Amino acid sequence: MTQLETYISENENRFLEDLKGWLRIPSISTLPEHAADIRQAAEYAADQLRRVGFERVEIIPTQGHPLVYGEWLRAPGKPTLLIYGHYDVQPVDPVNLWESPPFEPTIRGDNLYGRGAADDKGQTMLVFKALESLMAVNGTLPVNVKVLIEGEEEAGGESVEHYVKTYPDRLKCDAAFICDTHMPSKDIPALISGLRGMIYTEVEVRGAKRDLHSGSYGGVAPNPLHALALIIVGLKDAEGHIHIPGLYDKLRKPTPEEKAFWNADPLHINESLLEEMGVSQFTGEAEYPPLERIWARPTLEVHGIIGGFTGEGAKTVIPAVGKAKISMRLPADLKSKEVFPLFERRVKELAPAGVEVTVRNIHGGEGVLVSPDSPAMRAAAEALKETFGKDPVFIREGGSIPVAALFYEVLNVPVVLMGFGLPDDNLHSPNEKYSLSQFFKGIRTVASFLQKLG
Ligand code: BES
Ligand code: MN
Ligand code: MN
Repeated sequence: MTQLETYISENENRFLEDLKGWLRIPSISTLPEHAADIRQAAEYAADQLRRVGFERVEIIPTQGHPLVYGEWLRAPGKPTLLIYGHYDVQPVDPVNLWESPPFEPTIRGDNLYGRGAADDKGQTMLVFKALESLMAVNGTLPVNVKVLIEGEEEAGGESVEHYVKTYPDRLKCDAAFICDTHMPSKDIPALISGLRGMIYTEVEVRGAKRDLHSGSYGGVAPNPLHALALIIVGLKDAEGHIHIPGLYDKLRKPTPEEKAFWNADPLHINESLLEEMGVSQFTGEAEYPPLERIWARPTLEVHGIIGGFTGEGAKTVIPAVGKAKISMRLPADLKSKEVFPLFERRVKELAPAGVEVTVRNIHGGEGVLVSPDSPAMRAAAEALKETFGKDPVFIREGGSIPVAALFYEVLNVPVVLMGFGLPDDNLHSPNEKYSLSQFFKGIRTVASFLQKLG
């Protein structure tokens, strides 16, 4: 065993305890009542960086939740790597479906359960521990490192966008590394070559000035919930086609190689998708293979519909107002700022007579496609091969990490998307978990990645 491996094995328990401590803080970015927890989770990250030996560690206030920054730039002549992670998490509802409470991290088998275990505290902590291990064993790091940890990724990431655009010089680097993605299974390491962007909207429909008796007014009164239903089916039909004029115009055709990969699905991802979802067939655009639908097609989903009477029993009422949360995923060719106006226009066009519709742009971010040909990507691929015994596959993910496109476009550097999550980690769902073996392999891989980059 190398000294580094020995250090990692001897400290496994403490590494886990440090992660558990972070997971106990309910840093849900989208709920205002968790502001103090957000602050505490940021302090926790800053403290970890200080303990590694990072310098200029600071908590940067923003319009939203604070950023955490730290740097170690004492490797003259070596490249500088910018590392990103996020300390905020998603809400936990429906909380009754959790087998152990979301903020009491619990080990069952090879898994650590808790909100944020995978997304993204577990994956960010493993990077901290790789840095710590390298520093403890060598007294130095093989490359210069800047670390930027965000606290509102799950709520749209406006503050980090502002920061990257305002201070690109502070973040100047040769490559960026984001540890917030998956591999297809424990023995198929992956580097992510593409992510989708998105727009997240809220559509509010108003009818009468107050709730109405559905007998006295039914037949003549506008019903905002029915109007919402018409809008929703008008936006996306039963075949999964989105009816927003102009949407598909700028979507480029995939290369024949990509299309062949999506059709053949050599990694059998289709099977696992069905298994993870617990359904027997895919829905959506039947003329495109499922991998294309997830990785390279725009989609539209309704996340919630609010309004009217939802209690026990019956109440005969025509609600005065209804709201829906609707988002779209956008392949990198489609820009969120261009798609939102098309969406808004189409929603208004679909609204039936008698209701008033407001469309709010809650947040948006761009997708990204990254090339496998950069020194940083090659170093990451070699590191994965070393720890997992296999060359990594280059695949896309359907999810979004808007900061990746910002690093790529504003800082103009290659972005390495290398994560150790597994498809059944239950991100954003009850019983989110992270595999302990992936956590420890991740530490070794990231340490090796930095060494190879140096
Ligand atoms: N880590 C995820 C993104 C992700 C999900 C990558 C699955 C790979 C596989 C990230 O935290 C996330 O959830 N992003 C949001 C972005 C949004 C709120 C702007 C998403 O994709 O919904
Ligand atoms: Mn994440
Ligand atoms: Mn997430």
